[in-house]
Amino acid sequence: MSSQRTSIHGQWSSRLVFILAATGSAVGLGNIWRFPYVAGENGGGAFVIVYLLCVALIGVPIMIAEVMLGRRGRRSPINTMRALARDEGHNPRWEYLGWLGILAGFMILSFYSVVAGWTLAYVFRSASGMFAAMDAEAISMAFDSLVSDPERLLAWHTVFMIMVTVVVARGVKSGLEQAVRFLMPALFVLLVAMVGYAMGNGEFARGLEYLFSPDFSKLTPTGVLEAAGQAFFSLSLGMGAIMIYGSYLSSKASIPRTVGIIALVDTLVALLAGLAIFPIVFAAGLEPAGGPGLIFKTLPVAFGQMPGGAFFGTLFFVLLLFAAWTSAISLLEPIVAWLVENRGVNRIKGAAAGGGLAWLLGVPSLLSLNLWSDYTLFGKGFFDLMDYTTANVMLPLGGLLIALFAGWKLARAASEKELALAPGPVYEAWRFLTRYVVPLAILLVMLNVTGVLAVLSGMGR
Ligand code: PFF
Repeated sequence: MSSQRTSIHGQWSSRLVFILAATGSAVGLGNIWRFPYVAGENGGGAFVIVYLLCVALIGVPIMIAEVMLGRRGRRSPINTMRALARDEGHNPRWEYLGWLGILAGFMILSFYSVVAGWTLAYVFRSASGMFAAMDAEAISMAFDSLVSDPERLLAWHTVFMIMVTVVVARGVKSGLEQAVRFLMPALFVLLVAMVGYAMGNGEFARGLEYLFSPDFSKLTPTGVLEAAGQAFFSLSLGMGAIMIYGSYLSSKASIPRTVGIIALVDTLVALLAGLAIFPIVFAAGLEPAGGPGLIFKTLPVAFGQMPGGAFFGTLFFVLLLFAAWTSAISLLEPIVAWLVENRGVNRIKGAAAGGGLAWLLGVPSLLSLNLWSDYTLFGKGFFDLMDYTTANVMLPLGGLLIALFAGWKLARAASEKELALAPGPVYEAWRFLTRYVVPLAILLVMLNVTGVLAVLSGMGR
């Protein structure tokens, strides 16, 4: 019965297109902008190991579960969860999982678009050749001057949000396929080339050591939470983006193999970004814990020095922009699909409404970097709060609920059938991870941090 549902929004033309779209969602600013700066703030190696463990043991099983639920429900995450809960005779309030995802999607898209706006600005900055004459300090200052200018930030944020809205309004499939088929491989090749440059010109050995030789004394409980949060953010998990893409997947495609490819590519891109960036950080005497501006302060140093730097720099930021674009599209899609299903609007109106609201929410984010920088909560401005809360609280919570539903509420026969796996080691491993390891790990990671915070606030009294 339920496996015969079809999506009113259409279907991917092949499994390859799904892989491309989901990889497009996963690979984005999270890999190239966020991974290096969060790893840098958490001391490097030990963080990276925990991150890799989180990808393999938590991320992959949840991604399999998310694609599976999406394909079985064939609707927006809210309606999918309600339908599946009903099918299985459970409380339809599981749809709140979908609502949590919609909220997280708005919040992520709002600051994501601001950072994508920086990328847009850097396309033009590279093309103008401005980095050629600058040293690392001048390049840092150039970034700070962009971020302290609310009007410029607003303009770039607006341009990017319009780009996202237009593609989603036209339907995700038509525009996305071309973008991902050519530009993702190009980004990959360019990143490899950047690592090659860092090998020859940066402090490569130090960068390698920083990323891969773990010093667990540098890892705090918050660092562990951030590693888990980074895994969710980078793989686009816990908010329904992968679920909605799964709802457009043909019933014949094998989910576990597909997910393996996506997770592998996503992880490789993050590691390559780290390998390209940290050698330059050290060679230029910059701080690994430089915060959200890290890649914008380091890569232009390399582009300023290498032959053909204006060309390669422009190319790099254009490709990063496309990576951000395909990710942002997947953030807006679940919202628009729900508006189309439940509010009877067409995609154009749905995309305009969703994109407009996310744009509005982005405004306090960009103001918190300059005019409103004095307003903080828990020591964080609005931008940092959005980034931190979505990745480290909302996505893991969404992932926990997805694992609980897929592992405990969905009948075994149903998941066996959807995953097209006969009872065997792969299925059993997925089921064991999803039922026990994932929920326990997420709870432990979250409670540990809460516990430490409680102790700290107790000490402060
Ligand atoms: N995975 C994207 C990235 O790494 O840039 C960001 C993202 C997209 C997060 C979609 C969450 C999501 F649902």
